[in-house]
Amino acid sequence: MKAISRSGVFMLVILALMLAACGGGDPVTEDRVFSMEEIAEFDGQDGRPAYVVVDGTVYDVSGIPQWAGGMHQGIAAGQDVTEQFKNQSPHSQSTLNRAKIVGTVEE
Ligand code: HEM
Repeated sequence: MKAISRSGVFMLVILALMLAACGGGDPVTEDRVFSMEEIAEFDGQDGRPAYVVVDGTVYDVSGIPQWAGGMHQGIAAGQDVTEQFKNQSPHSQSTLNRAKIVGTVEE
């Protein structure tokens, strides 16, 4: 009896270690490579996430109040905003650091 329960505990420990090694949950979202067609779907409307592209990097701006509804200063999410970001906005890189990087766009 004792031997059985001891091996049972051993198996549970192995199982737990295997699960931990898998990492659990949603793994590689940050390395995702998007096409521009896919980016267009993340327009922040109707509850969809809002993504913008700057210099080939994809940022999730969904949690930023100024991007609520997928619009910010007349600019819509779901597109490459590199030009507007560099030439029309008061922002620098530190503003981008407030958004989570979710991936890059394909070349
Ligand atoms: C790409 C990601 C962007 C993020 C995460 C972002 C975020 C923000 C945030 C948080 C503010 C509030 C003020 C602050 O705390 O700095 C803001 C203000 C503003 N943003 Fe953006 N923004 C982005 C892109 C743009 C673009 C492309 C434009 C182009 C016109 C723009 C124009 C402005 C303007 C004019 C203000 C108001 C002035 C100010 O408060 O400094 N932003 N933005």
